[in-house]
Amino acid sequence: MTNPKTPSPADSPPIWAPGTTGSETPNTARVRDYWLGGSHNSAPDRRLAEQFTLCAPQLPYLVRTHRNFLRRVVTRLVRDGVRQFVDLGSGMPTVGNVHEVARRSAPECRVVYTDIDPVVVAESRELLAGDDLTAYLHADIRRPEQILDSPDLLGLLDLNEPVALLAIDVLHHVPDSAEPARLLTTCAEGLGPACRLALSHTGCDELLIDALRLYSDIYSKPLPEFAFRSSAEVRDLLAGFEVTEPGLVPIPLWLPDDETEPDQNPEHFSGCAALARRR
Ligand SMILES: C[S@@+](CC[C@H](N)C(=O)[O-])C[C@H]1O[C@@H](n2cnc3c(N)ncnc32)[C@H](O)[C@@H]1O
Repeated sequence: MTNPKTPSPADSPPIWAPGTTGSETPNTARVRDYWLGGSHNSAPDRRLAEQFTLCAPQLPYLVRTHRNFLRRVVTRLVRDGVRQFVDLGSGMPTVGNVHEVARRSAPECRVVYTDIDPVVVAESRELLAGDDLTAYLHADIRRPEQILDSPDLLGLLDLNEPVALLAIDVLHHVPDSAEPARLLTTCAEGLGPACRLALSHTGCDELLIDALRLYSDIYSKPLPEFAFRSSAEVRDLLAGFEVTEPGLVPIPLWLPDDETEPDQNPEHFSGCAALARRR
């Protein structure tokens, strides 16, 4: 396998985010930032990143594959006239996040980020301080009313104008018992008739599942149950939507552009992506 381009874990000063953390408690959202080449991470985050990559070398590649899809799909949505975004399970809004991508061509874009992790929410709000066109909600996707009824969302977005709902690499945190297809439909219905949905989902990949089990065994750190899904199962999640071109496809093959990493070896990534509209 080609080594993913993981940055070296030096204790370097911040180069991107103003709020580089000094936290002693590692956080997987900061690990993700590290794999994306950001600087909102600390030495403990980078140590955790190295442990993960030892067992699951495909993880940084997967993270960047999802992030590259986010860039392509947000760019497409902006080109289609969308100026408002609701991002489910956002993580830290650092390198290449929604507002950054959207505002490259439309500075007026508004973004509502959401996450269940209070540490992620608190640090993200610091990172976004002073940006009046973003809000960061502390919300659980399984409780759509926490998002749809939020005064911050209702104050920032005009639901008479198109909104894009983004579910990028997050629905594996939502088991079938929580009815993710219904949650997506409820969120989309609450965001207006022109709501579009962009979704990428990590696949049900034995190599990845074994690698995460190995990590858990070696470091005695139990991981939550992840609902990784096959493309057929992801298609079921989209039952309330009409998938638009190019369909539900492997993530790097969703309208690749010049910046898409050329390595499309299916062993290096797992999962599918789609853009859809409400039926
Ligand atoms: C794998 S990360 C993906 C982050 C981001 N979407 C991206 O593509 O970089 C998943 C994020 O979802 C959040 N999350 C997990 N379960 C959630 C839930 N039930 N509601 C909201 N956020 C959740 C986690 O805290 C984490 O930040």
